[in-house]
Amino acid sequence: WPKDVGILAMEVYFPAQYVDQTDLEKYNNVEAGKYTVGLGQTHMGFCSVQEDINSLCLTVVQRLMERTQLPWDAVGRLEVGTETIIDKSKAVKTVLMELFQDSGNTDIEGIDTTNACYGGTASLFNAANWMESSYWDGRYALVVCGDIAVYPNGNARPTGGAGAVAMLIGPKAPLALEQGLRGTHMENAYDFYKPNLASEYPLVDGKLSIQCYLRALDRCYTSYRQKIQKQWKQAGIDRPFTLDDLQYMIFHTPFCKMVQKSLARLMFNDFRSSSGDTQALYQGLEAFRELKLEDTYTNKDLDKALLKASLDMFNKKTKASLYLSTHNGNMYTSSLYGCLASLLSHHSAQDLAGSRIGAFSYGSGLAASFFSFRVSQDASPGSPLDTLVNSISDLPKRLASRKRMSPEEFTEIMNQREQFFHKVNFSPPGDTNNLFPGTWYLERVDEMYRRKYARRP
Ligand code: CAA
Repeated sequence: WPKDVGILAMEVYFPAQYVDQTDLEKYNNVEAGKYTVGLGQTHMGFCSVQEDINSLCLTVVQRLMERTQLPWDAVGRLEVGTETIIDKSKAVKTVLMELFQDSGNTDIEGIDTTNACYGGTASLFNAANWMESSYWDGRYALVVCGDIAVYPNGNARPTGGAGAVAMLIGPKAPLALEQGLRGTHMENAYDFYKPNLASEYPLVDGKLSIQCYLRALDRCYTSYRQKIQKQWKQAGIDRPFTLDDLQYMIFHTPFCKMVQKSLARLMFNDFRSSSGDTQALYQGLEAFRELKLEDTYTNKDLDKALLKASLDMFNKKTKASLYLSTHNGNMYTSSLYGCLASLLSHHSAQDLAGSRIGAFSYGSGLAASFFSFRVSQDASPGSPLDTLVNSISDLPKRLASRKRMSPEEFTEIMNQREQFFHKVNFSPPGDTNNLFPGTWYLERVDEMYRRKYARRP
């Protein structure tokens, strides 16, 4: 099969407007710092009624194809991961086929994959599996993930966000998926789900969702470590895998504080499987060695000790990956890949060359995987890695160019989204000049629920 299948190019899209979390704290009458420090969120991007999951994905795919200048018939597979469902049958993928119309290319496998925030990762795995199979026809794959994360008024609302990421998948990639190394955990849980088909909002058991996430992280990391240690043993290396073997670590990010705790949790896993002579490495943790694992998820003293012990590691391995999440919020399926883009935008190709990036993907309900990318060694000017890194470097500038909206305006738009969700025979209100240039938007929903899109010049 082809070598080093992985990510060749990436594009990130987020809405052109945001609400400031400090403003939201005041507006919601909660204590100062609850969202900005407690959750670690500074801004939250949100979409007007003019944008839906189809328009988000149209925009991100179009931008990726324009930037890479690939011919449309060079794509043989297109996968979409999303949990923003506007039709129970018709896939977002079918809408994206509009973009391929002029090229005449209809020979494109792949449809949508849904399980909460995990659909993007399932799509990436599908694309890579196709490329390493007898069905691969030599063309590229596109993986698209996107979501509009909105919650009703209440304590989950500040953990919203919106965005989409498109990735070009092919062989000899600067970010290659490491073969044979996926640790997966799946179980039946009702932590976050969307049973109400007449509403955009999920049902959430916030506290349970955090425990489910951390338990899945423990399980996935354990099985990833077993797999890599087995590979090492076959190569004559006999030692435990630890966080030291990951130069960078990215996570699905429902809110940034959760990620800092998650990196700390990985350190706790390393500590628990270490022998007793590693106290200098894991300072302040010895008192917690004998705790039963199920008692560790809600232990505030352990939380504090872990955050302290892992702070340096967090700053080195993970903090840079949270830039987009901090400023834009949760993007569900695209969250993890937004973290990858943030990491690339905050490091040079030379910094990244030869490193291993660990990735944890979590989708409520639940499905989770721990896997890794190997970054290519060649960081020379014009190399695929250098090109990829340069293409993402404008991320902070693009985020800074968004329009700040007041909590009142944000709430009004959320109310409009409620009002227009699943309405027929309407043209969304709003000024298309508020969208970034080149953005696709919803122009009309006709009396048969058929959606028509246009592109802002
Ligand atoms: N200054 C500083 N910190 C403050 C503060 C203040 N004034 N006030 C509160 N805090 C801290 C709290 O101490 C708490 O931190 P710790 O957990 O470290 O103690 C933090 O802020 C949050 O406060 P609460 O626990 O009181 O928050 P809450 O109960 O109001 O809601 C939430 C938090 C449960 C995450 C809620 O926002 C929610 O349900 N969000 C959606 C679900 C979610 O994101 N789950 C995450 C895992 S599931 C997943 O990953 C899938 C997905 O994408 C949804």
